[in-house]
Amino acid sequence: MADKIVIFDTTLRDGEQSPGATMNVAEKVRIAQQLDKLGVDVIEAGFPISSQGDFDAVRAIAEAVTHAQVAGLARANNQDIDRAWEAIKGASHPRLHTFISTSDIHLKYQLKKTKEEVLRIAAQSVARAKKHTPNVEFSAMDATRSEITFLAAVIEAAIRAGATTINIPDTVGYAIPSEFGALIRTLRETVQGIDKVILSVHCHNDLGLAVANSLAAIQNGVRQVECTINGIGERAGNTSLEEVVMAIHTRKDLLPFATRIVPKHIFATSRLVSKITGMVVQPNKAIVGTNAFAHESGIHQDGVLKKKLTYEIMTPESVGIPKSSLVLGKLSGRHAFKERLKELGFRLAEKDFELAFTRFKELADKKREIYDEDIESIVTEEINRMPHRFKLIYINVMAGNMTVPTATVKMEVDGQVIQEAGFGDGPVDAAFKTIKKITRTRSKLLQFAINAITGGTEAQGEVTVRLEEKGRTAIGQGADTDVIVASAKAYINALNKLEYRKKDREGL
Ligand code: KIV
Ligand code: ZN
Repeated sequence: MADKIVIFDTTLRDGEQSPGATMNVAEKVRIAQQLDKLGVDVIEAGFPISSQGDFDAVRAIAEAVTHAQVAGLARANNQDIDRAWEAIKGASHPRLHTFISTSDIHLKYQLKKTKEEVLRIAAQSVARAKKHTPNVEFSAMDATRSEITFLAAVIEAAIRAGATTINIPDTVGYAIPSEFGALIRTLRETVQGIDKVILSVHCHNDLGLAVANSLAAIQNGVRQVECTINGIGERAGNTSLEEVVMAIHTRKDLLPFATRIVPKHIFATSRLVSKITGMVVQPNKAIVGTNAFAHESGIHQDGVLKKKLTYEIMTPESVGIPKSSLVLGKLSGRHAFKERLKELGFRLAEKDFELAFTRFKELADKKREIYDEDIESIVTEEINRMPHRFKLIYINVMAGNMTVPTATVKMEVDGQVIQEAGFGDGPVDAAFKTIKKITRTRSKLLQFAINAITGGTEAQGEVTVRLEEKGRTAIGQGADTDVIVASAKAYINALNKLEYRKKDREGL
């Protein structure tokens, strides 16, 4: 039987460290359930000591996930480790993940500790974690810039203290595949007891090499890969789950390994993460980008029509990319809507279903044909929202090339109804300025993007905005057949996220 590669997903921890990708508890639980369905072996649910919100999310995920292991991250100290255990102890399969840096640069400038101290702390923290659970992972942060004999000594100490998984992170995305493969080989040849643990890698993508480095590590004996959906994560992101998994699937000749991932759930998972985090997937992104299977040139189209294999190394169906299908319309009832939600993998509580059904009916009145993408957008927009201070009641905008763009907006702010009017350079600017006036907020607009959810002029517009206030950023999304209304919804969604973050993330 082929060797198994453990897929450790850190979308909810390292992925959430992408600027602006904050998620609320319900959104994280929704993603965790989808990751479980996708077949990941380990879900890193968060960093419980970093904030009360993170703690609550990790605990909720531990209770909601049935198959996958649920990991909580902790620095190498008792307080972090005990707090992480509190959050994950309700999981069917809990894992404690503790880490400390091993590079000279980190020791000198960040930790301000000697090598002897770090060696002792690594062993002590693994031993502390072992008191809670037998399933302990240890990471040597910045491993690829560490002196190799010291790295080997720390790993050996962690194994002696009882670690069952040893993770070698390329924290700053510095390694080159041949060099990284050689590092893994050397560690396997020199560290005592390394054959008794699962060796893991965690690669960042600063040089665009995270997937290549992870594959080189697998070819040199690594059996766990840490990755994220759509490759999101700190700075340039992490190893992309879908890329590493499909490389293993597609190149069995060179990578004779097995994973538990069910590829046909990849696309839905990618869409869900993109929707919830607001991190748009670039069109040319491998596996899940909108152009990943689009053949444009005549020669390619001719070849694919004759035989798909000429220019396709895997099929879009194999990763679950649906053909845009007309599903429902104005006359569709409650039952049909519920069935379609089930087919798309949404399990909604009765109250949420009623909310979604009302939105669906409103949309069907404006737009004759409702596609899967429209339903997805309704569900992620309406359901799983964080508690919100600001609510849009009404917006009316006058614009054109012979008038000053003017917006009249009515909103609920902390339960109080307020109406205002304002001008702007264009209709979106007028709407945003008026919302700002009503909410008395001071955020700066960093990014504004608009997309059509499906084809045709009556398609819903999906707007993404990124706002910044006092160093905090938040992404908001809104969809509507009217792009100005979609813009207002996205703006208000981002304002609510900023409010939520103010309360929640005063942590580390
Ligand atoms: O990049 C890194 O080193 C990490 C560790 C906490 C595993 O994210
Ligand atoms: Zn990382």
